[in-house]
Formats: sequence, structure tokens, C-alpha cells
Amino acid sequence: MSKLWGGRFSGDVDPLMAQLNQSIRFDARLWEADIRGSQAWTQALAAAGILSDEEGQAILVGLDQVYDEWANDDFHLQPADEDIHTAIERRLTELIGPVGGKLHTGRSRNDQVATDLRLYLLGASDSLKTHLSTLQRALLDQAEHYIDLIMPGYTHLQPAQPVRFSQWLLSFFWMLQRDCTRLEELRRRIDVLPLGAGALAGTPVPIDRQALAERLGFGQVSMNSMDAVSDRDFVAELLFWAALLGVHLSRLSEDMILFSNPSLGFISLSDAYTTGSSLMPQKKNPDAFELTRGKTGRLIGHLTGLLATLKGLPSTYNKDLQEDKEPLFDAIDTLEIILPVITGAILSLTPHPDRMTAALDDFMLATDLADWLVGEGIPFRQSHHIVGEVVRLAEEHACTLRDLDLSTLQSVHPAFKSEALAVWDFERSVEQRNTVGGVARAAVQQQIHSARALLGPGD
Ligand code: ARG
Repeated sequence: MSKLWGGRFSGDVDPLMAQLNQSIRFDARLWEADIRGSQAWTQALAAAGILSDEEGQAILVGLDQVYDEWANDDFHLQPADEDIHTAIERRLTELIGPVGGKLHTGRSRNDQVATDLRLYLLGASDSLKTHLSTLQRALLDQAEHYIDLIMPGYTHLQPAQPVRFSQWLLSFFWMLQRDCTRLEELRRRIDVLPLGAGALAGTPVPIDRQALAERLGFGQVSMNSMDAVSDRDFVAELLFWAALLGVHLSRLSEDMILFSNPSLGFISLSDAYTTGSSLMPQKKNPDAFELTRGKTGRLIGHLTGLLATLKGLPSTYNKDLQEDKEPLFDAIDTLEIILPVITGAILSLTPHPDRMTAALDDFMLATDLADWLVGEGIPFRQSHHIVGEVVRLAEEHACTLRDLDLSTLQSVHPAFKSEALAVWDFERSVEQRNTVGGVARAAVQQQIHSARALLGPGD
């Protein structure tokens, strides 16, 4: 079988060179986008008078047949099929004869592949968005369900202040919400039709590109043919988006790994999302989260890899651009699996309120004591210092803060009164923080309400 571009060549391609050049192994997944693009292109050629009605019809019927073969897993690749575009055109011509060769009039694989990739990504981004929303909904549902639970909040991984378990869950909702809007924004830049840009200089066929865009469901038409065939910004943006989403999921994973560690034991993970050890019978490992954390390294690598591929390219299409697909597809596949796995793990976790309570210690209420002094008119900077001394006293006595009686507190500062002892209450501490975004029940409920409104009605 000769190459579709073989006319000017007399020698054979070295088999290893052919292997290097071949992208069908990974771009076969563009088959549907490629056929849709070709169907629309056929109609555009017919409308421009380049194909007769019969020719256009023959090509469309042939493309439907090729479509069915792919859809039914009945498309047989040939060794010479270099990429998805050549494979489909080769098969079309086998099915309908030489008229199939008219399909590529006025078109190049350069504008074709860019079109395919964008069409594919529009679909893939919709699917990723659905997975993302499902995870957000899981976080919201759990936050609502466990709103009573109070646990230690950490900064520097040191016990800091008590927080609602829900607040922790919801912190990830908002990260993912930014990912969601980021995806919507970058989707607008995917939604641009390059077809009609030809190899680099546009097409001599007087096609109506606006109508072509509408037929394919694109919102815009590319404005410069040279930019259209070289632009992979949308791939880089998608990879950045994936990497940052990965970073969010990786940070969530790190917390989950810590919280499910028996030494903290705030949550246990369902068997469905953990694995055992082949050696230590007692082990239950949080692999779902370790793998998510690990795969985030790949996602970051895909972004940096593509940027490195792009940085030195001269204008327009260069074969280096074929390297855009593997990282892109791998990033999509990775997220398509980790998002639902994390959703499942979140929905099936069991919190342990007793362990959360046991990990709360009075030192996490030191700020509340300082705030109490502020209520007595003492400037915060001074009250912070006073409570620092109280903390030191407790450490010296090897006791906890509430073990210090009023007279001991008063020995540090006379402003202490018996009402100050009311601060030794974790629920009270949390309820003090009732401004928008705070950890008080009402503030968290308000947050859940706003989050639900953003998410819209469930399925
Ligand atoms: N397989 C190629 C790619 O993925 C398609 C475009 C080939 N264009 C060319 N001029 N050889 O980029």
C-alpha cells in the first residue's frame, strides 16, 4: 500500500523511520472527530461547487460506512496507516473508489489534525467537567452530613485551632470550583475552528468557514491560517488545568493519607479504595490517594514536556506538534480515572468523631483566651503575650490550659475573670467564628447553600 503523500518519493522509508513517524497507535481515538470533520468538509466542498451532488453523496455514504466500522470495532488498520487521517481516507477510497480522493481538496492534515483535536477536547472537557461536579457534590453531601463534627485544624501541620470537619471538606469544594470555572474559560479557547487554514496559507476553495464552524458546533473561526495550524495553546492550557487540578487532588490525598493514618485515625477508608500488603497482614494502605498524589507528578510532567516541545518551534506546523497528543490523552485518561475514584473514596469514608475529639487539645483554644482578653479592652498584641505566658505556665506544670485555675491565670494578669474559663469549649470556639467563610455552623451552612447554588440541581 503506497503512502498518501508518496508521489514525489522514489525510495522506501526506513522501517524504523516509519515507526517513529506513525501516530495511529495513539491518535486512533480521534476517529470520530476526524470523520465528523470530514463530513462537514465534504458538505462545504459541495456547497462551494467543488464536488457534484453525487460525489458529495458518495463520500458521505462512504464516511458513514467508515464510521460504522470504527463504532463496531470492525475497522482494520493496515501497516501503512500512518495516522488516523490517512487511515480513514485510505479506507474511504477502498470503499467508494477514486472519488474518495476528492475529500482532501483544499485541506491539509495540518488544519485537519488541529480541528480533530479541538473537537475531541470539547467532548473530553465536558466529560471531565461532569466528573469534577460529581466530586464537588460528594464533598458537599459529606460536609452537610457531618456538620456536627469538630476536629483539629492544622497550620504547619501543627495543631492550630478547632474547625468543623465540614470546613475541611468544603475547602476542597472551592479549589475544585476554581478548576471548574477555569475549564469553562479555557473551553472558549478550544472552541475555535482551524479547518480552512489549509497547510498554512488558507484554502483556495471558496468555502463558507462560518457555516462550517456552525455545522461542527464551533463558536468561532480562527482568524489567521498560520496561527491556526501552529496553535497548541489550548493543549497547554488544558494540561496546566489538569496539572493544577492534580495538585488540588494531591493535596486532598495527602490529608486523607494523614487523617486515615492510625496515629490520627480521624477517618477510615472503605476497603473499596485501599489495598493490603503482601507481607504485613494488618496493613490497609490508602493507595487510591497515594496513586493520585503520584500521578500528579505525571500531570505536571505533561505540561512541562509540551511547553518544552513548543518553545523552539518555527512558525506554523512542525512534526514536533504530533507530540502534543500522548501527554494530552494521558492527562485526560488519568483524570477520568482518579476523579471518580476520589469521589467514591470520599463518599465511602467513615469519620471517627471520638478520635477527632481526642486530638483536640486546649492549646488550640489559646487564641480564644487572647480574644477573651481583647473583649476586656486589652490590645490583642498584649493579650497574645499574656496568653503566651499562660501557655508557658501550663507547660511548666505539665498540665493542660483548663487545669490552670483562675487565681493562676490572675497571677499572670489581673484582667482574668471567672467568665474567661468559658473559653475551654471547642464548640464555643468554632461558633465564635461566624462571619462569612468561618467555621461556625451557620457560616458553614451558608457556605453549603452558596456551593449548592453554584453546582445547580443534581442529576
Ligand atoms: N499525525 C500528524 C499530527 O499528529 C498529523 C498532521 C501531519 N501533518 C503533516 N504535515 N505531516 O500532527
